[in-house]
Amino acid sequence: MTLLQVMAADDADNVLLRTTDDAVIGAELAARGITFDRWPVLDNATETASDELLAEYDDRVAELNASGRYKHIDIARIHPDDANPEWPQIANGAREKFLNEHRHAEDEVRFFAAGRGCFYLHLGDEVVAAVCEGGDLLSVPAGTLHWFDMGTRPDFIAIRFFEEADGWVGDFTGDPISSGFPTLDQLLTAP
Ligand SMILES: [Fe+2]
Repeated sequence: MTLLQVMAADDADNVLLRTTDDAVIGAELAARGITFDRWPVLDNATETASDELLAEYDDRVAELNASGRYKHIDIARIHPDDANPEWPQIANGAREKFLNEHRHAEDEVRFFAAGRGCFYLHLGDEVVAAVCEGGDLLSVPAGTLHWFDMGTRPDFIAIRFFEEADGWVGDFTGDPISSGFPTLDQLLTAP
């Protein structure tokens, strides 16, 4: 993970913690009951076909799913395509999808094989922004209020683990909280 930033839920400017230290990030997430793990990254993940990628991570996936809990395991990927005039619109549409606060009936488990995205976990009186990048596995517990920003130039490959085929469907709270917090782009450029 590149970055963890903890902010007060009622004041995004009140930054309680900002760290790029892997050990601190792991400890802070664990203290909040958030599962975080690191898996090896492939050199050429972006050029690798999705079924091949899944095959490469077969052992890790089998270990994570030893109980058989996840019935649907797939890959979500998006890469910039500047040759396509519709790319900005596609990128914006993909980004907007989970940019507002929501929750799911099951854990949201994602392994980032490449690229980057940020989960914002609204945990009581704090918001924990966790910028995931290639090699990071994060699990947002079922029912946890959160949102996800893939940035203005979405570029990532993620293995997704679902218990139900519609496990990705979000229950949106209607709370505009996410609009008051730094975007992924802003988080990365902040001092
Ligand atoms: Fe979600």
